[in-house]
Amino acid sequence: MGYDYTQWDEEVEKLLSRMTLREKIGQLNQIPEPKGREQIEAYKEKLRRGEIGSIILASSATAGNDQKRNIDIDLCNELQRTAVEEGPCGIPLLYGRDVIHGHHTVFPVPLAQAASFHPELVEACCRDTAREAAAESVHWTFAPMLDLCRDPRWGRVIEGWGEDPFLASVMGRACVRGFQGADPADEDSLLTCAKHYVGYGASEGGRDYHRTEIADYTLFNYYLPAFRAAVEAGTGTVMSAFNEISGQPVTSSRKYLTDILRGWLGFEGFVVSDWAAVQMLVRCGVAEDRVGCAKLSVLAGLDMDMVSGCYAENLEDLVKKGEIPEEAIDLAVRRILRVKWAKGLFERPYCRPRAAARKKHLDDARVLAAESMVLLKNEGVLPLKKGMKIALLGPFVREKRSLLGSWTLDYDLSDVKSLLEAMQERVGKEELGLCSDETGLFDNMAETVRQADVVLLALGESWETTGERRSVSDLALPASQRELIRRARALGKPLVGIFFCGRPLAMEGAAEFLDAALYAWHGGTKTAEAVCDILWGEANPSGRAPMTFPRRTGHIPLYYNVTSSGNFVNGYYGEEVYPCYVDSPASPAYPFGFGLSYTSFAYGEIQAERLRLSLDEFLAGEEFRLTVEVKNTGDRDGKETVQLYVHDRTASRMRPLRELKAFQKPFIRRGETAELTFCLGAPQLGFYTEQGSYIVETGVFDIYIGENCLTENKISIRLV
Ligand code: BGC
Repeated sequence: MGYDYTQWDEEVEKLLSRMTLREKIGQLNQIPEPKGREQIEAYKEKLRRGEIGSIILASSATAGNDQKRNIDIDLCNELQRTAVEEGPCGIPLLYGRDVIHGHHTVFPVPLAQAASFHPELVEACCRDTAREAAAESVHWTFAPMLDLCRDPRWGRVIEGWGEDPFLASVMGRACVRGFQGADPADEDSLLTCAKHYVGYGASEGGRDYHRTEIADYTLFNYYLPAFRAAVEAGTGTVMSAFNEISGQPVTSSRKYLTDILRGWLGFEGFVVSDWAAVQMLVRCGVAEDRVGCAKLSVLAGLDMDMVSGCYAENLEDLVKKGEIPEEAIDLAVRRILRVKWAKGLFERPYCRPRAAARKKHLDDARVLAAESMVLLKNEGVLPLKKGMKIALLGPFVREKRSLLGSWTLDYDLSDVKSLLEAMQERVGKEELGLCSDETGLFDNMAETVRQADVVLLALGESWETTGERRSVSDLALPASQRELIRRARALGKPLVGIFFCGRPLAMEGAAEFLDAALYAWHGGTKTAEAVCDILWGEANPSGRAPMTFPRRTGHIPLYYNVTSSGNFVNGYYGEEVYPCYVDSPASPAYPFGFGLSYTSFAYGEIQAERLRLSLDEFLAGEEFRLTVEVKNTGDRDGKETVQLYVHDRTASRMRPLRELKAFQKPFIRRGETAELTFCLGAPQLGFYTEQGSYIVETGVFDIYIGENCLTENKISIRLV
């Protein structure tokens, strides 16, 4: 376990014994930041009565879509002073905020961070973020989001780590470590909140907040592993999700919030609801009124009510009437106080405003942005040569805000350069022949484009088509941008598409007309500079697709860790003896784990010390040690993301054709060879049953080690 929250239980019990029922319920109550003096004074009155446990520094239900608003540090300290000095037990407030992928320094959206396959760098960037936000009163961030997503139409896909549970687990752990640091009590640390527990990313049709249907086998093997990783890394809190699973809203589900989260995952911190989710139980049709909402949620194991007010209004009465035992309230208070203690609030309740090391953070942001970008196609155009005459076209030439992505509340646009500005810093006026941010390519531009050596197209999607409540029904690049690509193509010049996006778009109608395609994502404050680093070869692309890129929207869901079909058809892996679709091939445009480099790598055969082990030896801790040589065969130094996939050939349940179980990202100099070792033990070869027991079965396992999920470089091992 990353952190033992029970170590504070003695202090917690002492405090709890002094609290009245109303004060206890106050701890379960989170309210939004106050608007105006009148409300501030009203909040103070409540604090004097011990009626508020936490304040969320957000004023609307969809904070990620709001305009930038600074935190009022003085106000936070003022209210904290009332809580500590005038509140009945002097219990400090816990301030939460959605600090998702940066604070003033904005890092790439999490989906892009996943593409870096670089957890150490992600951890370092979360640390930077924690430092900036903690210096402005924030104690608690509502991150990481760990929702596995197989449907990029969902706007919130940007906030997660893609379609793979292992990658999400690695990244989730890195975030918890980065934000919480060695000790959440550090002045520069933020408590984390693993969200949205659980299954939110499976909403039907990618429609935000919609229902999900998740069988327990799927839940344990796909949707829960990242939460397990976050709990093991010591996340202080978990947020329950808005969605229902097969008829049960998670907000009021004892199965998900208590049996699985507490019993199966061993979580000891506290659970907060999503925004106003407790009161939504009426619309869900499982509670008649707000009283019912409060009762169902608290009994399910939901500790803190985010802004609905149902707990504050109703719990006291419910206890007095004997409809809820006071112990249910005590349990929730205990968990919240544990976390407040762990955060060090009782020792240091106030914020000491201080300047953060922005220069380092901005440098880290540039490195992570470059490391996240995925080179999808390159037919000899990139990197650009010095002195090349460039035509720069497309709607993202001057764009700044979208480069930051959704869910960034504290950005500084003055730190952000547009692609044009970043390029102007690199190349002279003569090299940048034509520049237009029109989406059209008009006749009067054709001549200048013809004089260029290369045409760069700045394409993508607005940040306003990503994030909460911003799903799309069509994953294609907008028609006007596809038309721009076609018109530019007709001029016969080498064509490079740079895609500023929050999700993998359907690439048909775009990629085939380009000579090179660089997926730059919504890469944060330093997106444009990082694109230039890659265009001119100062950074060698090393990002890999954290989600499958479909050819068409109609192919969704399309994800790599599918099971085999009993028939001779498996579109993802190119097997189409019978067509999946009669109107298009069902293979991905770019598979999971895919990404090019400016150099090339050759994989040697996989070597194993042994090919067979008895199940008993294996379960007693023996491992398969596999090695593979990866040679940089090109003429540049570069990083290769070496990916290991497992296929359990015959098992009691159908197992995926490939499952990512390990990866390494070595830097290999040109001409040099790296020898990499992977050890496979029980955690890599087993799976969860529908009851949640982890089992390993005998049989043959194909182990693939290669450059993406379609690699054919494999070895077979056997457990007997
Ligand atoms: C979102 C959460 C967010 C919360 C607080 C909700 O609408 O679903 O992800 O943390 O608001 O802003």
